[in-house]
Amino acid sequence: MTSPFLYDSLASKDNFFGRLREIEELKKTTKYSNNLLIFSKRRMGKTTLVKHFLSLQEDKYLCLYIDIFDMTSKEGFAKALLSALTNSQKSDIKLAIKTLTSLFKRVRVEPSIDPVTLEYSIKPIVSTLSFEDMMDDFFDSIKKIAKKKKIIIAIDEFQQIATLKNIKLDAYLRKYIQDRENISYIFLGSKRHLLTSLFSYKAPMFELATHFELPPLKQEDIFSYAKKYLDITKEQIDYIYEKSDGETKLLLHILHLLYIQEKSISNELINTMISEIINSKDATFRMLFDTLSNNQKIALKVVGKYSKGIFSQDVLNEYNIKKQTLQSAIEVLTQKEFIDKSDQKYFIPDRTFEIWVENKI
Ligand SMILES: Nc1ncnc2c1ncn2[C@@H]1O[C@H](COP(=O)(O)OP(=O)(O)OP(=O)(O)O)[C@@H](O)[C@H]1O
Ligand SMILES: [Mg+2]
Repeated sequence: MTSPFLYDSLASKDNFFGRLREIEELKKTTKYSNNLLIFSKRRMGKTTLVKHFLSLQEDKYLCLYIDIFDMTSKEGFAKALLSALTNSQKSDIKLAIKTLTSLFKRVRVEPSIDPVTLEYSIKPIVSTLSFEDMMDDFFDSIKKIAKKKKIIIAIDEFQQIATLKNIKLDAYLRKYIQDRENISYIFLGSKRHLLTSLFSYKAPMFELATHFELPPLKQEDIFSYAKKYLDITKEQIDYIYEKSDGETKLLLHILHLLYIQEKSISNELINTMISEIINSKDATFRMLFDTLSNNQKIALKVVGKYSKGIFSQDVLNEYNIKKQTLQSAIEVLTQKEFIDKSDQKYFIPDRTFEIWVENKI
């Protein structure tokens, strides 16, 4: 039996709900071949939204989705772009190879079989090519395709490009992204600071994309979906929403646990489910916590307990820490993405971890 509440894999067409406004926004953006930068706290549903949107657009646009989460070199980036393009050719394999061969100047392609799914795909062969050659071939090809069909290119975890040491990939990409017709880029990622700094004033990609912060799912949307499968009230949904601070993954996890048990739903039961989730992560979070220095541990506790006024004398006294020491620990935690700040408030972007910090340390 499968659960209608997916929290650890991406929702499919059948279990995707809500997001009507965001889909409209994406439609508008791509219709006029504009670019969009989507960011949010962790696990709000960026990847799910964009993949769902692309699946709705496949007949009108050539859709490329690239996740660069584990990219470690510029060549890796170029290869990921090329693979997305070769895999997007959905026609029969012979025709696809013919099309690709006529598009590329230098890249060769060959069919390959996925050992897990046993499905055919087409692989670019690039080992002898330079980064520049690969990039030129990719962007020349999509330029040609875009004359006949509009293109959407979504790049997930885009902030990774800022982590490459020997190249300023954003400066390199700028010329390609600026000079485009019938192509829309959607950049997404969750490391807010890194990501938005790529598009900040005076950065190479400044003004190359409209910024959009993905909000939590609407409570009404969650309720109308959940009540199809659960005997649950709007108040209880609101309670789950409040406890999970609107984090899509955590609230779906809670709904999943409610779905697979038989008791009638109450706030106490919801609390039990949250404890169950937190306890199941205890070992992982402990390990994570142990990677921190003592001052960083204190800083994390402070943020867990107070979101505002963390540098006030009362707080400094309570934790017996100097202001400057706390400040530099907060800085390191921010860089490590353990904590974040918005509207002058500090918070822990992973809501499950946040509850763990609030309750267990
Ligand atoms: N609109 C939706 N309908 C149903 N499930 C959703 C929806 N949005 C997100 N989810 C579920 O929530 C979980 C987290 O979503 P997703 O991985 O897309 O978030 P994300 O913002 O990309 O996270 P990260 O910051 O880790 O990259 C997934 O299991 C996904 O299936
Ligand atoms: Mg994601």
